[in-house]
Amino acid sequence: MIVVESKEKHSQRIANCIAEEIKLRQKFDQHLVLGLATGSTPIPLYNELVRLHTEENLSFRNVYTFNLDEYCGLEDNHPKSYHDFMYFHLFNRIDIPRENIFIPSGQIEPLFERDYCEGYEQTIKDLGGIDIQILGIGRSGHIGFNEPGSSVDSITRKVKLHDITRRDAASDFGGFDNVPTHAITMGMNTILSANRIFFMAFGEAKQEITKRAFCGEITDDVPASHLQRHKKTTICTDFDIT
Ligand code: GLP
Repeated sequence: MIVVESKEKHSQRIANCIAEEIKLRQKFDQHLVLGLATGSTPIPLYNELVRLHTEENLSFRNVYTFNLDEYCGLEDNHPKSYHDFMYFHLFNRIDIPRENIFIPSGQIEPLFERDYCEGYEQTIKDLGGIDIQILGIGRSGHIGFNEPGSSVDSITRKVKLHDITRRDAASDFGGFDNVPTHAITMGMNTILSANRIFFMAFGEAKQEITKRAFCGEITDDVPASHLQRHKKTTICTDFDIT
């Protein structure tokens, strides 16, 4: 389903949908598993979730979250880590139990990476899988950090970042050379196994790649194009791609 409207409207709609699902699960004493993204795109959504918590008493006590990715080599408290981003924009401002928050670590020794990534997958499975996944897109066509060439069967793993991705992050890190070269990311299979996906892309810079992802051929060269086969993805944009 494709919906075109402002990013604020999209963020409200998605936040309301998440809130309804959280409350429904609370009634039956069940939990909800959210897959979360970083970047500038989901910030208005996180602000709206915080507003629902502070102004409308929405509790996140029955929510588990799994983040898509993290840069390798960054400590959790590094100002550009996705850990820092998530605590700043969301987790420090809502009542989610700390033990319900999962973000891949950028600090795993190479020897233990494989076990660590398999453990991340297993924890998602043990909690019943991802109910609602939030996604943005990188200009390389990546979702999470699944860069071009990522197979549809891929699971959580260490990946090398595309030059476009590193160039886009250069200003955050004070130059291209300072941008980490690798990351841990949930795989394509992990993402595509989510029950429901909200894909968000706003602004002109995302228009061309979003069009390729949803109106072009389904190919590993544009990992986001595999979303065309997902059973319940809402494409939320502020531009027309049809
Ligand atoms: C990073 C993240 C992606 C995100 C992308 C877009 O690469 N790993 O998950 O979708 O940035 O970021 P922005 O929303 O800032 O354009």
